[in-house]
Amino acid sequence: MVGSFSSIGPSIRRRIDRWAPPPAAEGRTVLVTGATSGLGLATANELARLGATVCLVGRDRERTAAARRGASSLGRAQVLSETANLGDLEQVKALFVRLTGRLDRLDAVIHNAGVLFHTRQLSPQGTEATATIHLLAPFVLTEGLQPLLRASAPSRVITMTSGGMYAQRFDLEQLVAPSGEYDGVKAYACAKRAQVVLTHEWQRRHGPGGIDFHVVHPGWVDTPGLSHGLPGFARLLRPILRSPPDGADTAVWLAGGRPGQPPGGQLWLDRRPRGEYRLPWTWMPSACRVAGGEALWAWCHAQAAEVVGGGAAR
Ligand SMILES: NC(=O)c1ccc[n+]([C@@H]2O[C@H](COP(=O)([O-])OP(=O)(O)OC[C@H]3O[C@@H](n4cnc5c(N)ncnc54)[C@H](OP(=O)(O)O)[C@@H]3O)[C@@H](O)[C@H]2O)c1
Repeated sequence: MVGSFSSIGPSIRRRIDRWAPPPAAEGRTVLVTGATSGLGLATANELARLGATVCLVGRDRERTAAARRGASSLGRAQVLSETANLGDLEQVKALFVRLTGRLDRLDAVIHNAGVLFHTRQLSPQGTEATATIHLLAPFVLTEGLQPLLRASAPSRVITMTSGGMYAQRFDLEQLVAPSGEYDGVKAYACAKRAQVVLTHEWQRRHGPGGIDFHVVHPGWVDTPGLSHGLPGFARLLRPILRSPPDGADTAVWLAGGRPGQPPGGQLWLDRRPRGEYRLPWTWMPSACRVAGGEALWAWCHAQAAEVVGGGAAR
């Protein structure tokens, strides 16, 4: 795992698999959440350099404007920005309404925003904050942007999960209402595992409409988020952590358009599809995973409907 998830992984795979530079992205429009820091900032910068129209989403107006200025300086690409706190579903709803009015196409969405909380927190709607940012916000945004994604098909939705999910079996109850004393690492891992399950369910429902869903593990990356979320881990492994551009590479590669795009419903690390289980107690037979995906989708839909109304999330 150390070799694979650290900077050693991409340095070897780049040579073995003869990585070509990510394809030019002129004419494509890509939305990136959490674009003010770490992986999201690196993703947005690289897509702008490749010529995509990039729409950055940040939660702080000034940081978002600074990220937009930075990305704009990298080429002639158009760089747009929006601000929204993705921990508040009312703001997520307002975001997709604004985006629908503003964008005339949308080729890819990268759900990158994420955080590891050290204390239990709730959204203004009363949902658990980790589940809100990693699942409910992407759900509301994806369902709200679905008409635009469908009209731009073939399009794709890419979600940034984490290797932490390998430690956790999918458990909807634990995700929705973590029991016992709050454990931020466990809540984060639960949400990251659920992102993989949701990706399969999205693919099952929307894949036939021309939208492909992917989930990416970026490896262990030297970002402000890692230093804040897991300070001891970040300090210990700093010499072999990946750079943000290396961590962002697979998401950028998937977001760029090219012939022979791989099919959706897969977990990726370093441009290769990966297995979803490494520990025996996390394994689920596929029938259970499908049932879990349906239950997760139903929970997301019910929470979204409270805010958005039943029509926006079909
Ligand atoms: N770094 C790693 O080793 C690693 C490993 C596996 C997975 N990941 C995943 O990769 C993604 C990016 O992480 P990172 O390491 O780049 O972290 P980061 O440097 O902290 O960046 C996180 C981004 O998400 C934004 N964000 C956080 N909460 C938000 C909210 N409520 N509303 C809107 N935006 C919000 C942050 O905004 P601000 O700038 O305003 O804080 C920031 O732009 C996350 O999903 C993380 O779980 C990271």
